[in-house]
Amino acid sequence: MEMNTEIKLDKLLHGGDYNPEQWLEFPEILEKDLELFLKAEINLVTMGMFAWSKLEPEEGKYETGWLLNIVDKMYKNGIYTILGTPSGARPQWLAKRYPEVLRVNEKRERNLFGGRQNHCYTSPAYRRKVREINMVLAKEIGSHPGVLALHLSNEYIGDCHCPLCQEQFREWLKERYGTIDELNKRWNTTFWSHTYQSFDQIESPSPNGEMLLHALSLDWKRFVTAQTVDFVAEEKRAMYDGGCRQPVTVNFIGDYEGLNYRKFKDVIELSSWDSYPEWHRGPETDVALDAALQHDFMRSLLKKPFLLMESSPSSTNWQDVSKLRKPGMLHAASMQAIAHGSDSVLYFQMRQSRGASEKFHGAVIDHYGGEDTRVYQEVCRIGKDMAALSELKGTMQYPKAALLYDTENRWAITDSQGPRNIGMPYKETADKMYGALRRQGLDVDIIDMEDDLEAYRIVLIPMLYLFRAGIADKIKSFVENGGIAIMTFWSGIVDDTDSCFLGGTPNGLMDVFGLRSTEIDGLYDGEENAGVPVENNALALHKRYTCKNLCELVRVSDAKVLMEYEDDFYKGLPVLTCNEYKKGKAYYICADMEGAFYDDLVQAVVREEKLEVPISDIPRGVEVTTRESEAAMYLFVQNFNRESVNMELPLGEYKIIYGEENEKLESFATVILKKVK
Ligand code: GLA
Ligand code: ZN
Repeated sequence: MEMNTEIKLDKLLHGGDYNPEQWLEFPEILEKDLELFLKAEINLVTMGMFAWSKLEPEEGKYETGWLLNIVDKMYKNGIYTILGTPSGARPQWLAKRYPEVLRVNEKRERNLFGGRQNHCYTSPAYRRKVREINMVLAKEIGSHPGVLALHLSNEYIGDCHCPLCQEQFREWLKERYGTIDELNKRWNTTFWSHTYQSFDQIESPSPNGEMLLHALSLDWKRFVTAQTVDFVAEEKRAMYDGGCRQPVTVNFIGDYEGLNYRKFKDVIELSSWDSYPEWHRGPETDVALDAALQHDFMRSLLKKPFLLMESSPSSTNWQDVSKLRKPGMLHAASMQAIAHGSDSVLYFQMRQSRGASEKFHGAVIDHYGGEDTRVYQEVCRIGKDMAALSELKGTMQYPKAALLYDTENRWAITDSQGPRNIGMPYKETADKMYGALRRQGLDVDIIDMEDDLEAYRIVLIPMLYLFRAGIADKIKSFVENGGIAIMTFWSGIVDDTDSCFLGGTPNGLMDVFGLRSTEIDGLYDGEENAGVPVENNALALHKRYTCKNLCELVRVSDAKVLMEYEDDFYKGLPVLTCNEYKKGKAYYICADMEGAFYDDLVQAVVREEKLEVPISDIPRGVEVTTRESEAAMYLFVQNFNRESVNMELPLGEYKIIYGEENEKLESFATVILKKVK
């Protein structure tokens, strides 16, 4: 399936999810929408995701004319469409006629009709009905010149445990292991006498049955991802067969663990995601870092600009509290997406729905319906700014730093029993490492074990418990060739079926890191230890840092010890080591250290290795991010603090193309600088 890989429009996209099907009986509202879209410099709407009942009110009776008219009207006014396929929410008649499409939960109970994304993705009936509606949409709407891209379904999510899925799972396992003996061996089923005699006996994990065979749980999650990707591929095939060639995307959920998004790489041309940070829950500077990480993840997936597919223009009504975005926050969040490589700022939703569960979700146009609202005015400001920044479309980021953060590893860490069943700090460690890199002004790719490391100078590796995809060899040759690896405790423990490596860990890397891990101590909540610097250590670290949750004990062979434990029976054992291995360096962090430790360590390494940063001494809470084209470098500087900060910008080299030239960077302000190459 040769689709176009890029969106054919030389502009940043501004707009969002639009559900005109909810307003077909109110032509004056649709008119008003268009008028307000134009005033806010909206150039894109995403339509169709939840319109199946209006597109096929009865089986086989298609009514697409209304949507085509709207696509056409928008286009004539300079507004493009991303065409959604409606598989995320099926009509009532479909569920009645084909009950097999209803999802079955892990307790083996079949759902009633309701909600969305609750179909069986294996069901041949569902696949057939989706193919039919997609083909009709592709033929009747997909060829319209206004359709820029295809948006398959909406936030694929969850799993189905129905008999059809069980059967498919067994087939998938047969393919993976060949024989039941091999599966038994790899899954360690001799434990508790769980040996399978044949594939027919295998059942997906269930609280009513097997939950402790970790390899089963891991493979089930892999299967769910594979089956969802296969569903996506079928949806895409239908659009292709119906004549569409526009790039395809699926809207991902931020930090969603249920699916391994990496595996979608080959079935999409663009990655996109829905961003709903709780901006005012904690310090905005922390929330900004978290949002930044998600943006970077989405860009790193295909190593090209992504789309911010959804974001709330004000409050988000499914969160605990529907907090309003304080003035300027929507603008800052939108600019941040662009800074990290988004070619769009799109909202959910363009017009607030009147009834049902999202009637109080923020929208560009609210129930009042006028333009003199605070939110609409801020959207207008963003529209104007984006229109002036078209040259950024398609520009890229080429980070020299990467964070290795792997979904399959996350599944395995969470599922495993021990060394802490009351919370393993995987995400937290990744966040601390990411924050430390970003505070130095380094752009960061978020990669997984299937990626190559060669493009980077420094790779940070939090808690890589599970090794797969030849990662040990990759890390080894990365360091051999001059790379800097910083890896933590609880790494290289098991293989890809959660079987422990024999002969010492981190498996395959004991020579690279110059040490062997001997034991790991789980700490109770509230318990702490600390790392203290070794005198005259190579990085001149001089502070004491606390640690909690996990303290690993290592025995060094070649590594130098930079910090050691302050307390407990392992007082004096290493907390931080560095091993010079061939042309590179391998740092090992033995305990779950506080954030300040990561900040200081990364800062010291950046200085020692003379890693290039666009601005040194960045005030805390300020984000510095780059994008570049063949012709120019762009530097985004954003202040996420509640107060203004003083900051010197590199104005000799760069010229300001957006924002105020001022020594003070106001709260939530963005400045964009440009340097012609
Ligand atoms: C998700 C969905 C949207 C909408 C928003 C509300 O991201 O994709 O359809 O429900 O949440 O925040
Ligand atoms: Zn199913």
